[in-house]
Amino acid sequence: MNPLREGLVRQRVPEPCTLVIFGASGDLAHRKLLPAVYSLAHEGLLPPYFSIIGVASTTHTDDSFREDMKHAINQFSRYRPINEIVWSALARGMHYVQGNFNDPQTYKKLQLIFEQCDLERRTGGNKLFYLSTAPSQFESITSQLKHSRLSEGQGWQRVVVEKPFGHDLASARELNSHLRSIFAENEIFRIDHYLGKETVQNILVLRFANGIFEPIWKNNYIDHVQITVAETLGVGRRGVYYEEAGAARDMMQNHMMQLLALVAMEPPVNLQPESIRDEKVKALRALHPLSEKDIGSSSVHAQYTAGYIQNERVPSYREEEKVSRDSTTETFAAVRLFIDSWRWAGVPFYLRHGKRLAKSGTEISVFFKKSPGVLFNAADSETPIENNVLTLRIQPNEGVSLRMEAKVPGQVLQIQSVKMDFQYGTEFGSDSPEAYERLLLDAMIGDPTLFIRHDEAEQSWMFFDPILQAWKASDSQNLVTYPAGTWGPPESEQLLAGDNRKWRRL
Ligand code: BG6
Repeated sequence: MNPLREGLVRQRVPEPCTLVIFGASGDLAHRKLLPAVYSLAHEGLLPPYFSIIGVASTTHTDDSFREDMKHAINQFSRYRPINEIVWSALARGMHYVQGNFNDPQTYKKLQLIFEQCDLERRTGGNKLFYLSTAPSQFESITSQLKHSRLSEGQGWQRVVVEKPFGHDLASARELNSHLRSIFAENEIFRIDHYLGKETVQNILVLRFANGIFEPIWKNNYIDHVQITVAETLGVGRRGVYYEEAGAARDMMQNHMMQLLALVAMEPPVNLQPESIRDEKVKALRALHPLSEKDIGSSSVHAQYTAGYIQNERVPSYREEEKVSRDSTTETFAAVRLFIDSWRWAGVPFYLRHGKRLAKSGTEISVFFKKSPGVLFNAADSETPIENNVLTLRIQPNEGVSLRMEAKVPGQVLQIQSVKMDFQYGTEFGSDSPEAYERLLLDAMIGDPTLFIRHDEAEQSWMFFDPILQAWKASDSQNLVTYPAGTWGPPESEQLLAGDNRKWRRL
C-alpha cells in the first residue's frame, strides 16, 4: 500500500496497536502528537483497537495525564472544541508511566501496562514507540527497550525517531548503526515532518502526474532553483537546543534537503517506498561537495541583532533566553550548491533559511531560462523580459503559481509579468491534514515512503559536515549579522548578485 497512490482513493486503517510516546509531557506531544492522534480518531482513521502509553519523568496519574492531553487537544487540535464521544473512547485506552528513561524499572512498569493494554484493547502485541525526547536519550531508550525485550515479541514493533538525527555525519552514522542493531531498517521511521505536508507530497504529483513539466525539468531549460524557508519567529524558549543546532542543522540538513531531493530526483520506476527513496538518495549523492575554498564564496551564515517584527521590537539572538551572550550560532544560512548529474549539471540551487526574517513563508521557485535574445527579448528592447518562474508555495497560502510575460493592453507594446495561480484553499476548500497526522498514520500502517532512510540522513550530513566545520573554525571572523525583521545580511544578496541573480520576494 502506498500513500501517494492509494491514500488518495481509499482510506487506510492500520492494525490494532499501542502507541508508546517517550517524552509524553513535552512540547511536541502537546502541540503536535496528541492533537494529531485525536484528529485521526475524529476522522475514524485509527485502528478499531488502540491504546496510548505516555512515558516521561513528570509526575502524573493516568487521570491527570488524560486531563493534560485533553487540554492540549483543546488548545492545538484542528477539530475544536473537542468532541466528548471521540475523546472518551480515546481516553479510555490512555495510560501513563512515570520514570527515568535510563532506569530499567521504568521499562518494567511499561511492560506491565503494555500487557494490560494489549489484553484489554486487543492490540495483538503491536507497538509503535515514538521517541519524542532530547536526541541524547535516543540510544539509551532503545537500548533499554532491547534489554527489557519490549523491542521484540508478538506482533510488530516499530520506532519513530524525531529529529535532529545526529549532530554531524559521525553521530548520525553511530545512531544509525545503534538503531539497526536493535530494529530492522523497515522498523525504523526517521521522521521529517516536512514530508508529511500536503504541499510537499504534491511536489511529486506536480512533477510526475503532469505531462508538461518533466520534459523541461532539466538544465536545458532551467536557469536556477531557489528554496526559501523564512520565519519571523525567533528561537523562543528553545535556546538550549538552538545553541547546539543553529539554522543549518535545524532546517537545512533535514527539511530543506528533503525539498531539494524531491525537486531534483529522477522519476522513480514505481511508487513503492524504496523506489522513491532510492531516487532521493541518488540526488543527494550527486551533490557537489563544497571544497574549503568554495565554502566562503558559496555560503553565508549570520545571526540576528535586535530589530522590529510587525512593528514590535524584538531582542537580538544573544539576548534570547538561555543563549550565550557571545554566541556564534547562526540563525540564518544561505548556500549555493550544484548537483553533478546529467539533468542538473550547471544549474545552481540556492537555499536560504532564517529566523526573525521579514516574513514567514516556505517556497520553491524554479526559474526557467529567458526567451532567446531576439524579438521581444532583443538587446535593444525597451521592456526587459523576465524569467518564467514556477513557484511551489509550501506554506502559507499553499499553492502553485507560474509567472509569465504578457502584453499590457494598449496601443504601445508594453510587456509585464503576470501570474497564473492555483490555491489549495480555494480549489479544494477543506483543511489539509496536519503533517503529523499523515506521518503517524503511515508509521502505524508501516509505510516508510515519507520517512528518511538511513542513507538519506547520512548523505545529507556528508554535504553539510564540511560547511559546518568551516563555519565553526572561522566563526568569529565570518559570522555576519542582520537586524531582525529584514531578509538577512547583505552577503546573502551578494551570493546571488555575483551570479547576476536575485532572491525572489516572498
Ligand atoms: C522544526 C524546527 O523542525 O521546524 C523549527 O526545529 C522550525 O525551528 C520548524 O520552526 C518549522 O516547521 P513548520 O512546519 O512550522 O514550517
